[in-house]
Amino acid sequence: MKEYSPFTPGIPVPVEYFVGRDNELRGIIATTKKSISQNSLERIFVTGERGMGKSSLCKMATAISEAEDNVLGLHLHLGGVNTLEEMARMVFERLLRNSRDKNWFGTVKDFFGNHVKQVGLFGFMLEFTASPSDLRKSISEFPYILKNLLEKLKDEKKGIILILDDLNGLAGSADFANWLKSFVDEVATSNIHLPVLLILVGIPERRRQLINNQPSLDRVFNMIQVKRFENDETIKFFDQSFTKINVKVEKKAMELLCRYSGGHPVFMHEIGDAVFNIDEDDNIDHKDAMLGIVRSAEAIGAKYIEPKVLATVRSDRYRAILKKIVRAPDEHRFSKQDLSKRISPDESKVLHNFLQKMKNLGVISQPPEAPRGEYEFTSELYSLFFWLQATAQKSHDRNANTRGQPK
Ligand SMILES: Nc1ncnc2c1ncn2[C@@H]1O[C@H](COP(=O)(O)OP(=O)(O)OP(=O)(O)O)[C@@H](O)[C@H]1O
Ligand SMILES: [Mg+2]
Repeated sequence: MKEYSPFTPGIPVPVEYFVGRDNELRGIIATTKKSISQNSLERIFVTGERGMGKSSLCKMATAISEAEDNVLGLHLHLGGVNTLEEMARMVFERLLRNSRDKNWFGTVKDFFGNHVKQVGLFGFMLEFTASPSDLRKSISEFPYILKNLLEKLKDEKKGIILILDDLNGLAGSADFANWLKSFVDEVATSNIHLPVLLILVGIPERRRQLINNQPSLDRVFNMIQVKRFENDETIKFFDQSFTKINVKVEKKAMELLCRYSGGHPVFMHEIGDAVFNIDEDDNIDHKDAMLGIVRSAEAIGAKYIEPKVLATVRSDRYRAILKKIVRAPDEHRFSKQDLSKRISPDESKVLHNFLQKMKNLGVISQPPEAPRGEYEFTSELYSLFFWLQATAQKSHDRNANTRGQPK
């Protein structure tokens, strides 16, 4: 009997459940190898819409490179970080924490000297502390610090993969953009041979912000785009996850799981988890799948969308329009004119305000090249959710209509 769900909605996927992304993985791993063999600083920007699997891809690529090429992976989540000083402090702290159980820990600890502090109840947590002026200095000396560190670790590690993930505040900072540029230029023009792969991770908007601040960064980073899964990868994902817990998925059910999750990893995990919870006989049939899909529409709304959108869009007429915008899972654009034909005259009265609100909330935008009155969802998550809502509504209506009819 299955005990635990193999699905992990909302957190980067554990390595053993990772599927697909073969080309992207190959690209990152090959770049790591190049960095080591040529002693060069390599640069990649991993981008893609929210929840598309950017962090998971980096985590998997790092795990492979750590095993195959003996590199040190440092994966930083910089969501709340706005200054270079804080970023530098986090890099050093991550390095300390990742080394703690390793035989080279002494080397790293000595390297940082009295900047290392043991904190917490049993002194188990390691912190990196330094004065603001020391941190500032470490930023301009960053390439040399990495160089010295790698020199000290040369018997253990051949290079470093440094991942700066969730670039929110920093992406908009001119300081950060200028620092990146000078870091790359300094390594290129000086004699520092640095086997480091620097990976920046952020949604396309963050990449645009960064390049606005420092246009030449456009050419500095090779871009890897993380997109929705292809159908065969989605099948593999469900197949692999359910097989691990000895649950069978019927063909019809598999078709539904794939169709409704639309290759979106967040939806795949949410739907998988809902179906896992519904199934009672270790066999996913059509009914289990359908029920799970409807249930996950609610979970997705409650977790990812409602807090942001429906909190300010409470009116029933707004809700009704929400359910009519999207007619197919891959429909990311719509026109105001078309939509107004699908809604009631009463709903029409609030359509303009509704679109304005959705725009202000960042749910939809007007693409610059599109004709007036054309909108697109800023994230595929939104359109898929609205489509799931519409589908759930339709199936609800259908059930209501057939209830009471002779069988
Ligand atoms: N290759 C994969 N195989 C299986 N599950 C995956 C894969 N990639 C991502 N996922 C799942 O999809 C969800 C989102 O993944 P992840 O957090 O890596 O995305 P992200 O693009 O980094 O998101 P964000 O923009 O919020 O940082 C997670 O639940 C994760 O487990
Ligand atoms: Mg992420």
